[in-house]
Amino acid sequence: MHSEYQHLIDLSDYPVSWWKKVVELGEEIRNDPSKFAHECDGKVMATLFYEPSTRTQMSFQTAMIRLGGKIIGFDNPANSSVSKGETIKDTTKIVSNYADVLVMRHPIAGASKAASLTADCPVINAGDGGHLHPTQTLTDLLTLKIEKKTLSGLTVGMCGDLINGRTVHSLCKALSMFSNNKFIFISTPELRMPAYIKDIIKANGSTFEEVNTLEEAIGSLDVLYMTRIQQERFASKEEYLAQKNTYVLDRKKMQLAKPDMIVMHPLPRVDEITVDVDDDKRAMYFTQAKYGVFVRMALILTILREKKSSETLKGKVYSGVRCSNPRCITNHEEYLPKSFLSSGDETLLECEYCDERKLI
Ligand code: CP
Repeated sequence: MHSEYQHLIDLSDYPVSWWKKVVELGEEIRNDPSKFAHECDGKVMATLFYEPSTRTQMSFQTAMIRLGGKIIGFDNPANSSVSKGETIKDTTKIVSNYADVLVMRHPIAGASKAASLTADCPVINAGDGGHLHPTQTLTDLLTLKIEKKTLSGLTVGMCGDLINGRTVHSLCKALSMFSNNKFIFISTPELRMPAYIKDIIKANGSTFEEVNTLEEAIGSLDVLYMTRIQQERFASKEEYLAQKNTYVLDRKKMQLAKPDMIVMHPLPRVDEITVDVDDDKRAMYFTQAKYGVFVRMALILTILREKKSSETLKGKVYSGVRCSNPRCITNHEEYLPKSFLSSGDETLLECEYCDERKLI
């Protein structure tokens, strides 16, 4: 299935050279933003945020404004016709006729992909449930490029809610494409990194190990990527409370880290980094959020300049087969083609919207 517009749903849809180009443009914009102040004069960006956001929403909005463009959209679907039962298809079909680019955040995996099937302008995934967050990854890559001067040969610790953390899923997929990166996953057994991400890391030739405590890993890390335990993704409050406060980075643990390790976090934080870490020069999370504006300016510019078409669905619909993930968009919007990719073995299918695997 083809769309005549260029979307960013998953960074894996593009070659590494494309991401590098976006990150390099982000660095160029950071060095001289005024040069780009009128690049999007007359353009409109729509932000459709079905889920709360501070950084992603506002950094996209300021990015478009700083490029000379204008913004429309909603940040509370209850104030839009979504509250009357309008589907993603209808909402995005309409809004994409009001805007030149559409930025969408949604609590259900695969929602942005669903939007890209029918939108009449490019769609950018600003986070789809616990699945992916590609523009956070571009932000993270720009942060690493500026602060570590490389995207290769890094030992990266990821800590916290790795099963639900769309930011770490996207970042693992991206960093494993660069040479000699090693991952250390720090989580409880219940919150481990999903198997499909570990398979991608292995297939890309990177390595990983899994540990239970921050203390075991912190001394060997170049980068520590902390994440929030995401209450909103747990089936019950009891399951969340059992995980809450498991990992807290504080000044004492920072003493075990290398002098040039950097601490990243997509934010918001709850209590996983104590405020006394903020003054440590290795704490990079506020700077990271600032870099997000430059890389999103670069992304908007790239997508509006390139004007390429995209292949939106590459797989097949199998009679009677549907995704087993209750938090997949295909189980919420019935009209969507239930498309699966096969890895050669037709008994193991992968949902094209949320990456859930299914044996048939
Ligand atoms: N990092 C991030 O996605 O933050 P928001 O949820 O505030 O957008």
